[in-house]
Amino acid sequence: MEWFGLNRTKANLKRKIDWSSRLPKHIAIMMDGNGRWAKRRGFPRSAGHYAGMQTMRQTISMCNDNGIESLTLYAFSTENWKRPKDEVDYIISLVNEFVQDTNVRELNKNNIKVFFIGDISKFPEETQEAMCKVVDQTEENTGLKVYFAMNYGGKSDIIQSVISILKTKKGEEITEEEFEQFLYTVQNPNPDLLIRTSGEKRLSNFLLWQSAHTELWFTDEMWPDFNELLLYQSILDFQIRKKRA
Ligand code: FPP
Repeated sequence: MEWFGLNRTKANLKRKIDWSSRLPKHIAIMMDGNGRWAKRRGFPRSAGHYAGMQTMRQTISMCNDNGIESLTLYAFSTENWKRPKDEVDYIISLVNEFVQDTNVRELNKNNIKVFFIGDISKFPEETQEAMCKVVDQTEENTGLKVYFAMNYGGKSDIIQSVISILKTKKGEEITEEEFEQFLYTVQNPNPDLLIRTSGEKRLSNFLLWQSAHTELWFTDEMWPDFNELLLYQSILDFQIRKKRA
């Protein structure tokens, strides 16, 4: 009965969305709450990250199936290195799992193109190599573009951009558009909709420059519980706000 009700709500929401136009082209997500999700269940934090990884895969599929062009996922921030070493190692092991050949075949089957933004040089060498390999192996795909923000911080993004500008354009005037050419997000700068789970309502150093005009959407659900219903709700709210604007 509960399942039937949920499906009906999902179908109702889906019907209200304008799928032909006004879809957010680029969605960015702060996947927050893995640790709290696990704690509430008496599990170790790693179980929350494992569940979060499954939700991440489902969300990629949902965005691909629903015609979203780009998805940026805050997977590892510059601040996350301060976490206990075993937790950092576990998250890196999940990244290694994601870039395995079997998963890359799945990405190719679904025509998904992968990118990484951030300073990935801090990750173990084999992880960096696997990251570069998955970017190469999915390069020809024309469907959803997924940008994983790894060792990413909005402030360090702006600083690395300024450093590059000083090297190449010292003393020259620079426009906002030119500045964006030096950011990690150069290929796909500005999200239309930014979603954060877990009830926190902060940007936490994510896409600081890029989210200047982005619609922000928050849910109290922890990341492992994010689902299609919430994705539809965020898209519908985005369209309602855009209509008013
Ligand atoms: C936030 O929850 C989540 C993270 C810091 C890690 C998310 C990473 C993954 C799901 C794997 C990434 C995989 C790839 C392929 C890029 P939290 O630990 O901050 O939760 P809390 O706020 O409840 O403690």
